[in-house]
Amino acid sequence: MSDDSSGRIVAGLRDWIATAAPGAKLPSTRALAARYGAGPVTVQKALRVLAARGMIESRPGVGTFVRAVRVARPHDYSWQTAALGSPANRSPALSTPLRTVPNDVIALHSGFPDRELLPERLVRTAFTRAARGAAAVSRPPAAGLPELQAWFAAELGAACPAGITPPAPSDAIVIPGSQSGLSTAFRALAGAGRPLLMESPTYWGAILAARQAGVQLVPVPSGGGGPDPDELARAFQRTGARACYAQPNFANPTGARWSPDVADQVLDTVRRHGAFLIEDDWAHDFGITADPVPLAARDDGGHVVYLRSLTKSVSSAVRVAGIIARGPARERILGDVQAEAMYVSGLLQAAALDVVTQPAWRTHLRGLRHQLAARRDLLTCALAEHVPAAHLDTIPQGGLNLWVRLPDATDLARLVRDCEAAGVIVAAGTEWFPAEPTGPYLRLNYAGPNPGAFPEGVRRIGEALERGRKGP
Ligand SMILES: Cc1ncc(COP(=O)(O)O)c(C=O)c1O
Repeated sequence: MSDDSSGRIVAGLRDWIATAAPGAKLPSTRALAARYGAGPVTVQKALRVLAARGMIESRPGVGTFVRAVRVARPHDYSWQTAALGSPANRSPALSTPLRTVPNDVIALHSGFPDRELLPERLVRTAFTRAARGAAAVSRPPAAGLPELQAWFAAELGAACPAGITPPAPSDAIVIPGSQSGLSTAFRALAGAGRPLLMESPTYWGAILAARQAGVQLVPVPSGGGGPDPDELARAFQRTGARACYAQPNFANPTGARWSPDVADQVLDTVRRHGAFLIEDDWAHDFGITADPVPLAARDDGGHVVYLRSLTKSVSSAVRVAGIIARGPARERILGDVQAEAMYVSGLLQAAALDVVTQPAWRTHLRGLRHQLAARRDLLTCALAEHVPAAHLDTIPQGGLNLWVRLPDATDLARLVRDCEAAGVIVAAGTEWFPAEPTGPYLRLNYAGPNPGAFPEGVRRIGEALERGRKGP
């Protein structure tokens, strides 16, 4: 049998079908084999091709027939409206930071570091090694590879001051990225219909996860220094919430890093209310002029549930994160992880562990600091030059974003559209607010591709803003 001869039969039959009446019966396989001088297997192969193209249909035991011509009609999915009912919330179809865009635009919207910021050689070697090992063909324990659990616990333990018991390896659970960890934590520690305090603005994915989990979202205002501890205490008091989601280090989007004083006050409040603080340490590896000190390192009473992701710093293809929780909360979380994902691919875990335990990983992180500093400063200076009306509350000491306040009268939706038309993709701050935005903000990411084009991108933002101020 050759592809050529089955192709010849396909071509011949296609011509025949074109003139045949719908429903006409094709000659038998044996007759076709004789006609085309081919074997029955080759004829069957040709018939499968025609069937896949929708030109014929076979009725077992009866024969093969020319398919009736179908009148193209739109599908009617209206029954689903009745089946699904009204949605609990209408999330955007695709959040801006997840958008993939053509190479020829200036991308300041993304949430993921460009390839040149990743330890690419380490990742490739780690995958090769992992593919050769047992991880490629075996199922890891539900809580994760013990060595990776130990690594996550040791990383947090290293930050624990004297007098605080560091977490045990068994307190760490490996999860498929911290996005899934947020959903898990919200379901396991707050639960549908119950209040969850959340900084505002905050990570769009946390807002999405909270809405999907059906928790009652309670925004607490937060700025360049984190939330006002008194405001947070009042929110606990008022709502009876038993959980709060926060990013004490290099928050996305504000870049905020809590002072030790704010951290102490928040921790006291959380303890007083018998509550959990879900700490998202997403930018642990992205310190620039400061090192993040996890709040979880000051707590051994099980109040802080800690999320640490490797997907951004190792590779977006390695969706691996750790969640550290103590006491019954850990069991709730593990139960949810099993229900949701069962376990994380051992291959990914082995690759992640390989990368972060190489001496070259530390060297990479030191270099990354300088790259991020240069990118952040480039974008900051370009803003000062080209968009003087923009205001930065903080120059972030780490993380990947600038949180830019624009003049009150800015038509944000129009600005974002005009920027895109000018070849610059930016994200409207609106997506980071769990309630109505308190002003027009842009979130500009300085970890995207082609940093050399950042100043030009910002110049075009400045132009678009000016045009918007002058009216249509
Ligand atoms: C603050 C924050 N938390 C969590 C995540 C999700 O991270 P992961 O890729 O580990 O799911 C992100 C991703 O952008 C983030 O910005």
